[in-house]
Amino acid sequence: PSMAVLREQGERLRGRITAGRKESVARQHALGKRTARERIEALLDEGSFVEIDMYRRHQAQGMRMGDNRPHTDGVVTGSGTIDGRRVFVYAQDFTIFGGSLGEAHAAKIHKVMDLALSTGSPVIGLIDSGGARIQEGVVSLAGYGGIFQRIVQASGVIPQISVVLGPCAGGAAYTVGLADFAFMVRDTAQLYLTGPDVVEAVSGQRVTHAELGGADVHGRRSGVATFVHDDEESCLLDVRYLVSLLPGNNLEPPPSWPATGATEDVRPALADIVPVEPNKPYDMRSVVAEIVDDGEFLEIHENWATNVICVLARIDGEVVGVVGNQPMVLAGVLDVDASQKAARFVRFCDAFGIPLVTLIDVPGFLPGTDQEHEGIIRHGAKLLYAYCEATVPRVHVVVRKAYGGAYIVMDSRSIGTDLSLAWPTNEIAVMGAEGAVNVIFRKELAASVDPAGLRAELVEEYVEQLVHPHYAAERGLVDDVIDPVLTRAAVARGLAMLRGKRKQAPQRKHGNVPL
Ligand code: COA
Repeated sequence: PSMAVLREQGERLRGRITAGRKESVARQHALGKRTARERIEALLDEGSFVEIDMYRRHQAQGMRMGDNRPHTDGVVTGSGTIDGRRVFVYAQDFTIFGGSLGEAHAAKIHKVMDLALSTGSPVIGLIDSGGARIQEGVVSLAGYGGIFQRIVQASGVIPQISVVLGPCAGGAAYTVGLADFAFMVRDTAQLYLTGPDVVEAVSGQRVTHAELGGADVHGRRSGVATFVHDDEESCLLDVRYLVSLLPGNNLEPPPSWPATGATEDVRPALADIVPVEPNKPYDMRSVVAEIVDDGEFLEIHENWATNVICVLARIDGEVVGVVGNQPMVLAGVLDVDASQKAARFVRFCDAFGIPLVTLIDVPGFLPGTDQEHEGIIRHGAKLLYAYCEATVPRVHVVVRKAYGGAYIVMDSRSIGTDLSLAWPTNEIAVMGAEGAVNVIFRKELAASVDPAGLRAELVEEYVEQLVHPHYAAERGLVDDVIDPVLTRAAVARGLAMLRGKRKQAPQRKHGNVPL
């Protein structure tokens, strides 16, 4: 045949390789789900997708598989751009074998993951799958093992994002558990190790897919989902937003924009947002909005462990990770979940060269048997470890309270912050005045004829001598006491001063982070 005929045949074949059977596609659409190719189109810059392995099909013979060998093998793989920057992507196609993963399917995913790592580009997995392909037996499980091994090797080298847009059951769930960021869509995403049938068989407990592993369960309770969305469109748009804030790899600086004049910016609103009264709640996100460029930020784990906030944003055109106590929830105390959430975020930012800004207003760790028995010492240690280890530029601002162990953990000077700023109103101390006086003057108070009067006198003395930023500033534990309205400017200047910071950790195999 002539080249013209061959070309025409080739084009016809490519045109046929779209998705599975018409009924399967119709069912997918009826469920509010898109096909793998529609999702890739929504995710990537228009026309940028380059497909790899389109013709790949399985070679399995048993279990009546021999006659049913659709091209792609149920996963569309390749590369494209987001805002002009390279990413690699795999999108499982539920309309072919329920997106289940067999040998060829897995090999295609391995190939794009290897290319992402060798070219230093983020990898995004769009997951919609019945899990390990049952007909191909243990080979399917080995395929997942190959993915997990690659995720771990690439951890801290390239950003890895998993987007759950349908079922993701069994061992497959670890493609989400290991990723840096996990997105889930309400109503359609289901994520669990053992499904409702197995749960009922083992424990007698009847539970729906959504109750067991729906988006809100993972977005609010388990903390597995970093982002939860109502529909695929807003979800994929947010994946684009996230990627726009991340470097392609750990050796590349994060993306940057033209400076925004932040170093000179005065923000009068900052004088009013934080109440002077130590116990009055406010939303730390409104402080963040005044400090970052355009008041715009992407919140990580918006609905889980909400007593701490973690956001990605820009200051003076440069990407930063902001960690803040949230006085609006549990008075902003640190607990098990908050420690884990902030620790993982700090470690992500550190791995990818994103400077850290910590906004401190913390009364302490949450007291109680629940927390102690759940291992707050072990989990709080994660956050402490993460900060101690971080070599990126680190700036903190004490906006109100900073008490005890929680103050040490929140990137204090002694664990290595580069620049410590404090508002004049704040309270940095081992503990609050009442508690402190009761401990150190217990005998004197017991012996006094006027314990109330003496206590008041001692509290006043304690506050005057110890509970103000100047006590810390005189000792170099605070570098500057700043006017709140100049916070954005002071943080921006601090980050500019710290640009190019280099710090080498001693050679070792790896640290032993308390997991
Ligand atoms: N291996 C092979 N094929 C699978 C599969 C798997 N793990 N999971 C789903 N499929 C196939 C189904 O056989 C069906 O094929 P068909 O269209 O030719 O009939 C197709 O995918 C769609 O599955 P279906 O069960 O009709 O979809 P659903 O939306 O009703 O249910 C699941 C989706 C994921 C809940 C259900 O398919 C399921 O429980 N799958 C098995 C999950 C599992 O235990 N995997 C092993 C984990 S290690």
